[in-house]
Amino acid sequence: MASPALICDTEQWKALQAHVNAIQKTHLRDLMADADRCKAMTAEFEGIFLDYSRQRATGETMEKLLKLAEAAKLKEKIEKMFKGDKINSTENRSVLHVALRAPRDAVINSDGVNVVPEVGATGKALTNVVSVGIGGSFLGPLFVHTALQTDPEAAECAKGRQLRFLANVDPVDVARSIKYLDPETTLVVVVSKTFTTAETMLNARTLKEWIVSSLGPQAVSKHMIAVSTNLKLVKEFGIDPNNAFAFWDWVGGRYSVCSAVGVLPLSLQYGFPIVQKFLEGASSIDKHFYSSSFEKNIPVLLGLLSVWNVSFLGYPARAILPYAQALEKFAPHIQQLSMESNGKGVSIDGVQLSFETGEIDFGEPGTNGQHSFYQLIHQGRVIPCDFIGVVKSQQPVYLKGETVSNHDELMSNFFAQPDALAYGKTPEQLHSEKVPENLIPHKTFQGNRPSLSLLLPTLSAYEIGQLLSIYEHRIAVQGFIWGINSFDQWGVELGKSLASQVRKQLHGSRMEGKPVEGFNPSTSSLLARYLTVKPS
Ligand code: F6P
Repeated sequence: MASPALICDTEQWKALQAHVNAIQKTHLRDLMADADRCKAMTAEFEGIFLDYSRQRATGETMEKLLKLAEAAKLKEKIEKMFKGDKINSTENRSVLHVALRAPRDAVINSDGVNVVPEVGATGKALTNVVSVGIGGSFLGPLFVHTALQTDPEAAECAKGRQLRFLANVDPVDVARSIKYLDPETTLVVVVSKTFTTAETMLNARTLKEWIVSSLGPQAVSKHMIAVSTNLKLVKEFGIDPNNAFAFWDWVGGRYSVCSAVGVLPLSLQYGFPIVQKFLEGASSIDKHFYSSSFEKNIPVLLGLLSVWNVSFLGYPARAILPYAQALEKFAPHIQQLSMESNGKGVSIDGVQLSFETGEIDFGEPGTNGQHSFYQLIHQGRVIPCDFIGVVKSQQPVYLKGETVSNHDELMSNFFAQPDALAYGKTPEQLHSEKVPENLIPHKTFQGNRPSLSLLLPTLSAYEIGQLLSIYEHRIAVQGFIWGINSFDQWGVELGKSLASQVRKQLHGSRMEGKPVEGFNPSTSSLLARYLTVKPS
């Protein structure tokens, strides 16, 4: 039987490959001189404005990308996702994070059952909450919490409470997460889809011990609750299943912020009305993604451009650069969302890919990043950048005597950086500025470096939800085009099983004085060195 076709074997893919040559001959300086092109390369939804004119792309590129979307059956794949088909075929699961924020009267079926009525949330006011979880059970809620913390409306609702996260199994993270907290006023929320993740379970046992040693064993039922799909293991752990919030296997870990994984800790901190606005924002983009034509569909355009950058122009990375400190945890969340989803080596049918998928995502808020890694972005490697800005700051400040407000100062950089990358600076310009000859090569900027700008009207719970949803769908679009399964993560398993072998041997050595064996010379000698020091 012939193997299923890869997207790279289609005419549409080949047409884009052939088109690369023409694009390589262009410079963004010239492309940007075309006002009609600049105007055309924009899209807007509810005040969110996307400008992708600084991508190394023309109208022809976009047409070809839209044809590729057709060849990849993007529309059908999006519909299948929204309909609850089991598109995560390696785990035989639906992918229905959109149901978590769908309007109450929506109908979304999984296994023939409408899941929307099952989705619910609650919020109890408690002073301190420590949310224990890792990966998708941590990064999304942390991003949203960090972004809400400085929103005046959300901050007002959270007065007198604090929400902390414990993710790393490093004892330093445990110490940090409970520093100055009193178990008596603390609720521990154990968040784990599987309730088997080694780090989370050890951290949960550690905090259980912290509660029991201070308040006695009966306190566990009052001070520990759980969010999981595995209520059997929750019960075995000692948490009353009545204190557990279930979710469903059709919610992928990294797509679970809108389930109880995020909604519970965030509601405990901010109250459900704020969280509801966040969910409504995400849902508004779901609708836009599902029903807008691809030419003006923000997540689709972003996804197609990322495919163009990675697979045709050969740029392996993407920088996420929010000019908003409130979004400081956005890039770490997108890093997991994107790299765990799209870092795959085979197609959804298990055929070895002959092209790379996914990109190396990283980022920092501007302007901090400018003083860190932007040097490389300007004069070193070419890294497509996402600039994310906000029109109205969460926290306006205008110091007397200053020429611009603090927010204008921040945003001056947001507007300047994309042009610096696109236009660069030529030796001729430097000569006219009388720059000494020996410095001309050092001060030259080639330019022609792609970026896109996403301008949000403001950054309340609603827009935070919209931003999340834009990126979730963008990443799915990329996976749909590449023909991979963006919803499994088998690549994380090998490391976990090797760690369990090491764990067993560490135990044997520490407890029974057994020699460490079965490892290669390098690991053996590293372990021997490690074992010379007894744990304190
Ligand atoms: O190791 C990766 C991973 O499986 C992620 O996909 C997931 O979000 C994380 O671990 C945590 O898993 P769980 O919620 O089951 O503890």
